[in-house]
Amino acid sequence: MERGRFITLEGGDGVGKSTQARRLVARLRAAGHECLATREPGGAPFAERLRTLLLEHGQEAATPLAEALVFNAARADHLAAAILPALERGVWVISDRFADSTRAYQGAAGGIDDAVLRRLEEIVVGPHRPDLTIILDLDPELAEARWRQRAREAADERGGALALDRFEREGRKFQARLRAEFLKIAAEDPGRCRVVDAGRSEDEVAEEVWRLVSEVLAP
Ligand code: TMP
Repeated sequence: MERGRFITLEGGDGVGKSTQARRLVARLRAAGHECLATREPGGAPFAERLRTLLLEHGQEAATPLAEALVFNAARADHLAAAILPALERGVWVISDRFADSTRAYQGAAGGIDDAVLRRLEEIVVGPHRPDLTIILDLDPELAEARWRQRAREAADERGGALALDRFEREGRKFQARLRAEFLKIAAEDPGRCRVVDAGRSEDEVAEEVWRLVSEVLAP
């Protein structure tokens, strides 16, 4: 049985990662590949509980290191309980975010020393790095406009208020630091990472993602 392929999508908030992950999975399935569509934080029962803790916590402050450890704990569970068993069964795993998000969010934007994060990554991910990481790159101002549009639509559907605005909470500088870190990660690991200009139409980005997946992972 041939091992499955492990593909991750990364990028800042509002770059369209989740949409592109969904489209890639649909296309891979149509091409006959069994796929596991998953996400981080989360993707396995215990990791999903940690996701709730990480993303829906109230006013209590968590130190960036504590957060980095919990993101890594969720990742250890996700790998052991979902990703590795699927790959061994020949299933392709498409994850909306993975370890590079910790480097960008807790590292560049959160201030944790990169050497600490690399050590954690070595322990948690070790040799199980993705076969391909697609980094969706977008100007933070455009990302913010898209994100606000989606938040408005979601609020209209629910008939409720806008969700807490991540851009307002964390600011554009934060998004700019994220962007720079993702580009740095891509430059340092060109064998694994590909940067895609996410400023184009959804269809054009999907086409480019598909081209990269077909080229890089063709048997
Ligand atoms: P998302 O589902 O909108 O991508 O939300 C996940 C959030 O969690 C997003 O703001 C990025 C953040 N995150 C981290 O800070 N570190 C991580 O390691 C991961 C996977 C996500």
